[in-house]
Amino acid sequence: MRVGRILEDLDALAGNVATLHCSGISVDGLPVLLATVTVDKITMSRPGDLTKDMKISGQVIWVGKSSMDILISVFSLDAQGAPVGGAWLVSTFTFVARNPRTEGAIGVPGLILETEEEKALFNERQKNYETTNQRRKKTLANVGYDWPDERSLAIGNQLLQEARPLIDMPALANGESILVSSTKLSNAFICHRQQRNIYGRIFGGFLMRKAFELASATAYLFCGVNPRFREIDHVVFRKPVNVGDLIKLESRVLYTCQSLRTLKPLMHVEVVVEVAKPEERSSFVSNTFQFTFEKPDGGTVKRVLPATLEEARTVVKRMEENRVDDL
Ligand SMILES: CC(C)(COP(=O)(O)OP(=O)(O)OC[C@H]1O[C@@H](n2cnc3c(N)ncnc32)[C@H](O)[C@@H]1OP(=O)(O)O)[C@@H](O)C(=O)NCCC(=O)NCCS
Repeated sequence: MRVGRILEDLDALAGNVATLHCSGISVDGLPVLLATVTVDKITMSRPGDLTKDMKISGQVIWVGKSSMDILISVFSLDAQGAPVGGAWLVSTFTFVARNPRTEGAIGVPGLILETEEEKALFNERQKNYETTNQRRKKTLANVGYDWPDERSLAIGNQLLQEARPLIDMPALANGESILVSSTKLSNAFICHRQQRNIYGRIFGGFLMRKAFELASATAYLFCGVNPRFREIDHVVFRKPVNVGDLIKLESRVLYTCQSLRTLKPLMHVEVVVEVAKPEERSSFVSNTFQFTFEKPDGGTVKRVLPATLEEARTVVKRMEENRVDDL
C-alpha cells in the first residue's frame, strides 16, 4: 500500500472540506486562502484491505476564529458499498484561513452543533485548541531550550558515552550499534505547479508524501526488509512553501526499540524539510516529520547512537515523547 499517497489524498480531501466550509466568505471577490497548519498523529492500527474499495470521509468538527478542525476517516467497503468494521485510519487536520489581500488571519463560519456526538467532538477539540495554544506560547518563549530535566540529561549522557567506541575506535566497537549520522539519506527537488493548491501554495499532503517516501526508504536500507508503516506523529506546517521553491529533505534513524505490542523491532525516523533560497543565500526549516516503522519479519536491528549533543538532545526528546505510546 502506498501510505504516502494516502496521506496526500487525506490532506486533499481535508482541503476540499475546508474550502466548502468557507465558500461563503470572500474579500473583494477573492476566495480566502486556506492552508494545512497541523495534522494529528496518525497510527495505523491495522492495514487497510487492498482487495476492497476504500472510502475517505471528512467533516468539520470544530472551528475557532480563523482555524478549523477536519476529522478524516478511511473505511473499507463491502461489495454493496457499506463500511466494513470501523475506520482503519483516522486523523484530524487543522486548517487556517487567511485574508487573500493581507495574508492575515480571517474569521471562518461557525458551526451549528445538532447531536450529542457533535457536541462531544467539538468540546474535545476546544480543549485541544487551548492546550496547543499554551504549548505554542511556551515553545516560543523557550528559545534557549537545553535539556528539559535531569532524567533526559542522564539518558543523553549515557547514549553519548556508549557512542564513544564507534567514534574513537570503530574497529573495536561492537557490530550491534551504528551512529545516527550513518543512517542519513537525503533528497532534493523543485516544487512544481502540479503540486499547488488553488491558492498557489504547495499542498501539505505533497510534502507529507515526499517525507514518507524518504523515511520509508531510510528504514528499508536500515533494516534490510520493506518496513511496515506504524505511525506518523503530529505534524506542524510552520511556513508556506511556494511553486519554484527548492526543497531539501534529510532523514535519519533516531533510535530503535522493540514494539510492546508485536515484540518486533521499531525504527523511529525523522525527516527534516528545508526550503533553500540559493539566490538569497538563505534557507529555513519548514517542518520536521517523525515516522515509526516496524521490521515486519521480526528479528533484530542495530541500536542507533547519537554522536553529538544536538543529536543526543533530539533523540532523547523523541524517546520521551514516545514514552506514553503503546506501540
Ligand atoms: C498557519 C500559519 C499562517 C500560522 O501563522 P501564525 O502567525 O502563527 O498565525 P496566527 O497567530 O495568526 O494564528 C492563526 C490561527 O492559526 C492557529 N495556529 C497557528 N499555529 C498553530 C499550530 N501550531 N497548531 C494549531 N493551530 C495553530 C491559531 O490557533 C489561530 O487560530 P484561531 O484564529 O482560530 O485562534 C503559518 O504558520 C503558516 O503559514 N504555515 C504554513 C501553512 C502552509 O502553507 N501549509 C501547507 C504546507 S506547505
